[in-house]
Amino acid sequence: MTEPQSNPLVRTVASTQSEMTEIVLPNDTNTLGNLLGGRLMHFIDLTGAMAAYRHARTPVVTAAMDHIDFIRPVHLGDLVTLKSSVNRAFTTSMEVGVKVWAENTRTGSIAHVASAYLVFVAVDEHGRKQNVPQLQPETPDEIRRHQDALRRREYREKEYARRRDGSLATHGLS
Ligand SMILES: CC(C)(COP(=O)(O)OP(=O)(O)OC[C@H]1O[C@@H](n2cnc3c(N)ncnc32)[C@H](O)[C@@H]1OP(=O)(O)O)[C@@H](O)C(=O)NCCC(=O)NCCS
Repeated sequence: MTEPQSNPLVRTVASTQSEMTEIVLPNDTNTLGNLLGGRLMHFIDLTGAMAAYRHARTPVVTAAMDHIDFIRPVHLGDLVTLKSSVNRAFTTSMEVGVKVWAENTRTGSIAHVASAYLVFVAVDEHGRKQNVPQLQPETPDEIRRHQDALRRREYREKEYARRRDGSLATHGLS
């Protein structure tokens, strides 16, 4: 494993904020005319990556996406808006939060439909890990998310180890 390159910069959460709006088209829907979960996950991945790119200013790869609750269906013709920002930067990885709303274009009503946390790792053009700038939270909400991100990272590490060991046992390898 190669040592990541160092990066001395510090960035704000605001400088990572990203947004994307899509209209739900027939190709994006299931037989009930609702947005496919996998398509929404794709939008979430893209919007999350935008925030991570803005923080790292290098290519990034998705290392993990935490579980997602699909709170309510999104219908054909709705506008889906996704907003993301980096919650915390670690050494080569960043936790990004993504929140999703759907807007009914006829009534104008807007509802929160999903949220997710993702982890991206910064890499160079050869796929080698890179150190990322540190993140300076400024507002009370940013400070809370920054603290929560550390707890989620610890939980993720425990869960990853548990899944990895469980998977080895399932395959008769431990
Ligand atoms: C993600 C990846 C770069 C990690 O590489 P690795 O050599 O296993 O990395 P390490 O174990 O040294 O971890 C590097 C960082 O990633 C984090 N990380 C690695 N796997 C993780 C996971 N499953 N969940 C959360 N974070 C993870 C580590 O905590 C570490 O963070 P830090 O440097 O900020 O402390 C590598 O597993 C990979 O390339 N995976 C495929 C990515 C991909 O193709 N994504 C989909 C398409 S973009």
